[in-house]
Amino acid sequence: MIKLKKVEVKPDIYWVGGIDWNLRNFHGYSTRRGTTYNAYLIIDKKITLVDTVKHYLFDEMIARIKEIVDPSKIDYIISNHVEMDHSGSILKLLENCPNATVITSTRGEKGLRLHFKKELNFKVVNSGDTLNIGKRTLHFVHIPMVHWPDSMVTYSPVDKLLLPNDAFGQHIATEERFDDEIEWGILKEEATKYYANIVMPYGDQVNKALETLRGLKIDMIAPSHGIIWRSLITNIVKEYTKWANYETDNKALIVYDSMWGSTEKIAYALAEGIEETGIPVNIRNLKNTDISDIITDVISSRFILLGSPTMNNTMLPSMGGFLTYLKGLRPRNRIGLVFGSYGWGGQAVGEIEKILKELQWDLPVSSINLNYLPDQNDLINAKRIGKKLVKIKNK
Ligand code: FEO
Repeated sequence: MIKLKKVEVKPDIYWVGGIDWNLRNFHGYSTRRGTTYNAYLIIDKKITLVDTVKHYLFDEMIARIKEIVDPSKIDYIISNHVEMDHSGSILKLLENCPNATVITSTRGEKGLRLHFKKELNFKVVNSGDTLNIGKRTLHFVHIPMVHWPDSMVTYSPVDKLLLPNDAFGQHIATEERFDDEIEWGILKEEATKYYANIVMPYGDQVNKALETLRGLKIDMIAPSHGIIWRSLITNIVKEYTKWANYETDNKALIVYDSMWGSTEKIAYALAEGIEETGIPVNIRNLKNTDISDIITDVISSRFILLGSPTMNNTMLPSMGGFLTYLKGLRPRNRIGLVFGSYGWGGQAVGEIEKILKELQWDLPVSSINLNYLPDQNDLINAKRIGKKLVKIKNK
C-alpha cells in the first residue's frame, strides 16, 4: 500500500519521493533493504522540484506533491543527475506542468535529450551558477563522476541545505527520513555498501567535491537515496573522506571458490596464519556470497587474498565475474595474494595475478598453486605464507 506521508525537511521544503520497498537488485547490486528515490519540493515564489523518482513510482510522487501544491504550479524541475532512477518521471511530470523549465548541467541536458528524444524547455547551469526562486537563491556545483559525468549538487544557503543527489546516499527503504531515526550501524553498513559499489572508482573526484563542499555552511544533507543526514553529518563526511583516499583498516579478506575442496583448504590455512598475527580476517565463498557484499568488505580490507582452482584452463567463472566487477571498481592501495589448485594446466593463478597487477596492487609474497590435494605440509606452508604476508607489511 502506498504511503503518502509528506515530510517537511526544512520550512517550506518537502520530501516528496517514492519508496521502493521490494527492490532487491539495483543494476546488479543487491539491495536487501530496498531503496528510496528522494525528490524535494521547495515552496517559494518560484515552485521548484529537485529531482524526481523512478518511472513506476511517479503516482506516489505526484500524490505527495498534490498534498502540498497543485503540480501545474511547478516552475522549475532541477535534474541533478540524468540516471533514470532520478529523472525517469520528468516527462510524465511535465504533462502536469508543461511550462516548467528543466534545470540541469551541460552534460545533463545532453543526457536527458538522448534519453527522452524530445525538445524540453531546458536551462543549462554551469558550476557556480545561481538561480533566484524568491526568498532563496539556489547554487549549483558540478560534481562530475559522482555518479555520472552530468552529476551536480543543488545548495540552498538560506536553509544550509545540500541536495547532492547520489552522493551520501544509501539503499534503504524506510518510513523514517532522518539519520537520528535509524541506528548508525545500519546506516554505516548501507552507506559503505553504496559507496563501495557505486562511487569507489571516483575517489579523486569525490575528494574534489568534498573540498568544494567544505566551503559551504551545511546543517542538512538530503541525498536522493535513503535517509537525510542532519545529526550525523560529521560521521558520514569522515567516512567519505576515508573512502575517497582509499584508506583501509588493518584487516584481511579471503575471497575464493572451490571445485573439490582443495582451494578451500588453502583458504582456511591462510586464514589461520593471518589470525595468528592478530589481525581480523573475513572469508567469503563466491558460491554463496553476493559480489556486491564482498565489495563492501573490499573497501575496508588492506589485505585481499583471492583463490580459484583451474577449470578448463582458466579460473572458475565465479572468480572471473568477481574480478570483472573488481577491475571496474578499481580499489587502490591493496596488498594481495593469489592461491589456487589444479589437476593439470594451472593457469587460474597466473590470470588472477595479472589482473591484480593491472590494479597496481602490491603482491609481496609468491602465489600458491598446488597440484591436486594439499597435504599436511602444504597446509602448514599455506598457514606460514598467510602469516608472512601480514608480517612483511606490518613490521
Ligand atoms: Fe541514483 Fe546514479 O543514480
